[in-house]
Amino acid sequence: MGTTTKTVPPVTLTQRHLLGIEGMPVTEIEALLARSHFFASVIDGSIPDSDIPQSLAGKTVVNLFFENSTRTRVSFEVAAKKLGGSVLNIAVSGSSVKKGETLIDTATTLNAMHPDILVIRHHAAGAPLLLSRHVDAAVINAGDGRHEHPTQALLDALTISRKFGRIAGLKIAICGDIANSRVARSNLYLLGTLGAELRLVSPATLLPADIDQFGVPVFTDLESGIADCDIVMMLRLQTERMQGREIPSQHEYFNMFGLDEAKLMRAAPQALIMHPGPMNRGVEIDSVIADDIDRSLITTQVEMGVAARMACLEALIVGASI
Ligand code: NCD
Repeated sequence: MGTTTKTVPPVTLTQRHLLGIEGMPVTEIEALLARSHFFASVIDGSIPDSDIPQSLAGKTVVNLFFENSTRTRVSFEVAAKKLGGSVLNIAVSGSSVKKGETLIDTATTLNAMHPDILVIRHHAAGAPLLLSRHVDAAVINAGDGRHEHPTQALLDALTISRKFGRIAGLKIAICGDIANSRVARSNLYLLGTLGAELRLVSPATLLPADIDQFGVPVFTDLESGIADCDIVMMLRLQTERMQGREIPSQHEYFNMFGLDEAKLMRAAPQALIMHPGPMNRGVEIDSVIADDIDRSLITTQVEMGVAARMACLEALIVGASI
């Protein structure tokens, strides 16, 4: 990892779909990251655009987003177009879903148009898996409920490994609304598999019931949780998935679990900050920290999203043609 060479080959995966990081062999994760590094070099200009393989030429990617999204949807679109593919964005609010069509019927209809890749975001965990059983296209999970968000974890790992040159041995604190976060779950699998020293920091009310299965230390105090960490990864308070009684108020949440300059003093001196976005400024993160270009990797994460998604789209297309 950490290499930017032209010789990194396209990846093939054992699975036809990209539904989650859980169970993905470490060799495949590493291969996807190595290929993402190659695409990141194209994005930062160190390799010319003319070297981008047009592996999606003549292929169609359909973005089917049942939940709001800015960065993930646009990122898949940019990634597919850089590889020469065509992209169709289905706006659910303007589609037959609003007339009561089921997910399976929507899938069957889209399938009849023969897309090559379907990128789906859905509020229900398991929706991408269900869809994958009813379409011929390869399916990419762009976030399903509280379950997984595999391309986010890949882009986070890419961001970290470009900055630090490694992932193994880094102390990484994932902080905030863990219970409702598919980003936390995918990162627990991915960063854990790659040997990061992970910690979770969250109020007890925002921890998932099955947290013990990850075998990661859990802190209910932000300052102790981030002590000496190399990376502090903040999560959004995902109120759309909350029941309403998890926190006393957003103001009190910020006082205890919001990252500001004073609390950040407890992390390692060169600690860097991550957040998948969208941010709730003044709720989980203070603007001074979020906008500090020397410490915040938040914009880099967005840039790396395109590279990581190029590697994933290409892998599924290359795999389908074998
Ligand atoms: C995340 C998501 O949708 O799970 N956002 C993203 O993909 N950039 C995190 C979030 O919504 O808070």
